[in-house]
Amino acid sequence: ASPQVVVVGSYVQDLCWKCERFPQAGQTIVGQFATGPGGKGSNQAVASGRTGVPTLFVGAVGKDAFAKEAKAFYKAEGIGATFVEKAQHATGTAAILVEDSGQNEIVVALGANAALLKTDVPAKALTQAKVAVVQLESNLTTAAHVLKTARRAGVTTVLNPAPMRPDFDPSMLASVDVLIPNETEFTALVNRLRIAGRTDFTEAALHALAPAALHALCRTLGPGTVIVTLGKKGCFVSQKSGHASIAAYTGIRVVDTTGAGDAFVGGFAAGLVKFEGDVLAAARFANAVAALSVTKMGTAPSMPTKAEIAGFLRKRGG
Ligand code: RIB
Ligand code: NA
Repeated sequence: ASPQVVVVGSYVQDLCWKCERFPQAGQTIVGQFATGPGGKGSNQAVASGRTGVPTLFVGAVGKDAFAKEAKAFYKAEGIGATFVEKAQHATGTAAILVEDSGQNEIVVALGANAALLKTDVPAKALTQAKVAVVQLESNLTTAAHVLKTARRAGVTTVLNPAPMRPDFDPSMLASVDVLIPNETEFTALVNRLRIAGRTDFTEAALHALAPAALHALCRTLGPGTVIVTLGKKGCFVSQKSGHASIAAYTGIRVVDTTGAGDAFVGGFAAGLVKFEGDVLAAARFANAVAALSVTKMGTAPSMPTKAEIAGFLRKRGG
């Protein structure tokens, strides 16, 4: 089937250490290690693909063992992927620390991802998709090009502005239909765009805002739809027509929240296809995908399958 969701972005080998508590500077502690496929772009593609919506991932890798693992993983998943090989670069890597509390700290080395070119992106697949998704963990010029090209072709464009970077060019927002920041990225955007003259807007201030004020702030960012993901508080959806708060599922056994944002974004993109552009239905579906992803260790491997989501929704309603 031709892809209905196209995700252009990062593939990263996740190197993950579980520890009781993050080490202090200068301290050595003992923990447990696991490694697997990650990267925000790829995680989002896997989340979308596992829901059963035909999905294509486009990204760059090096010419190394991690790249082989990437290709084998996608083959086993049966999800479409275009891995552009950059022989001069290493496959991206991430050092991830996960505390027993469930919190994480990540250092990502972009490697080959930063070398993804406009010409590496299959134009036909992109312009024939229903939804195109990009993040900022890739080449920013290419990301901007993908949004522009997709938008011009009438494809719904989704930007997950993660990780927020000092070289992010806000003019990119002009080609975005749906912007999905988390609390940190949202506050950074408000400060960066100097909305209402602010450069000191904090996450605490965000949480203190009344829904109407948060909606007003979302509207000033530009995109028609802004969805702020709020972790265990769910998400806030702001559209031209109005706003809604969607609570997260409760009673979830949290094992590892790494990649939960990616689960949401990928689940949302797939949901837009499944529910024919219904943003609220897609956001509710995304909430379920994210909830299931935190019950397992790892990022891409923890994305739920179509059957797992269906079983969960039968039990929990949705
Ligand atoms: O969002 C989680 C992802 O960010 C991880 O898979 C890691 O690769 C980092 O880039
Ligand atoms: Na997980």
